[in-house]
Amino acid sequence: MLLWRATIPNDWLPKVLANLDGVLLDHCHLERKAATSALNLIKYPELAGHARELNAIAQEELSHFELLMEVLEKRGVTFGLSQSSPWISGLMRFIRKGRRGQVIDHLIAASLVEGRSCEKFQLLAEALEEREPKLAAMYAELVKSEGGHYSHFWLMARRINDAEAHERLDAFLNLDAELIRQSHDLPILH
Ligand SMILES: [Fe+2]
Ligand SMILES: [Fe+2]
Repeated sequence: MLLWRATIPNDWLPKVLANLDGVLLDHCHLERKAATSALNLIKYPELAGHARELNAIAQEELSHFELLMEVLEKRGVTFGLSQSSPWISGLMRFIRKGRRGQVIDHLIAASLVEGRSCEKFQLLAEALEEREPKLAAMYAELVKSEGGHYSHFWLMARRINDAEAHERLDAFLNLDAELIRQSHDLPILH
């Protein structure tokens, strides 16, 4: 697993629990965006050999999207617009232009999003166990799936160029540590 250089701030969990419906809506959009992102990776020639693997990830993300839409419906939450996350936008802005750099960075950014989601889903699974056992079970289940995605993306980056992937992971982990400390009040997962 990743060796993060900063822990999730202590105010993250209380903020999320106080805005649970808003965070579930954001999470729903994140699953949709994850599906789109997996499909977009197929455009890189370096990943052409991974088309089926990426399509399988996209389909899994779409099934998570469906799952979250059901959760929203049951809770009576209106499906609204998505809000952008300063943490995700910061990671995306760090992706280099120029094909090989771009594909490696895109994969690393995707694996960090999966990795942090995993960690946060684990915290939610524990925190919701008593109060919302069904939701807690869903988050515990999602931890396994997103953990698999994290390693798929990271291994794909390493296969393109192992040394460069490690070098960029180092830079991305520093950026993550800097960005995750910047707290905000938005009712979103990241
Ligand atoms: Fe997912
Ligand atoms: Fe995922």
